[in-house]
Amino acid sequence: MSLLEILHHPDARLRLKAKPVTTFDAALAKLAEDMLETMYAAPGIGLAATQVNVQQRLIVVDVSEHQDQPHIFVNPALTLQGSLVPGEEGCLSVPGVYDAVARAPQVTVEAQDLTGKAFTLEAEGMLGVCIQHECDHLEGKLFVDYLSSLKRNRITKQLKKQKA
Ligand code: NI
Repeated sequence: MSLLEILHHPDARLRLKAKPVTTFDAALAKLAEDMLETMYAAPGIGLAATQVNVQQRLIVVDVSEHQDQPHIFVNPALTLQGSLVPGEEGCLSVPGVYDAVARAPQVTVEAQDLTGKAFTLEAEGMLGVCIQHECDHLEGKLFVDYLSSLKRNRITKQLKKQKA
């Protein structure tokens, strides 16, 4: 296993749209393992392939207290349920920034596992929110996109300064 570099906002590569995974091979399994290791080391509760500069529709999530319940979703598709509820979010690609984003309280995820087998998961609470957040990454979208442009510009400026 190896740690991957996580891209930080405002890196333009975070804006690329991921492509469907069509090959379920050892390289995909290795990528998922490396992403989990990178996420746990950060530490974080979710990571999308886009964040490690791989434009493939793959996300990993683990919201368990002891970080021992990893979920891997390949080609996830979401059906959102219920009216949006605001909750605080952060992102490994936007370090140090936390703010409220309105998300669906329940979500149905249709995805494939690392062998290509289809499965469905009903998720709510933090798991559901985290899945929605990670799927946004696959579309090139960040949680700060939900904030006011005033706030977002301030965050972008702050992170640019940290990088310099
Ligand atoms: Ni994120």
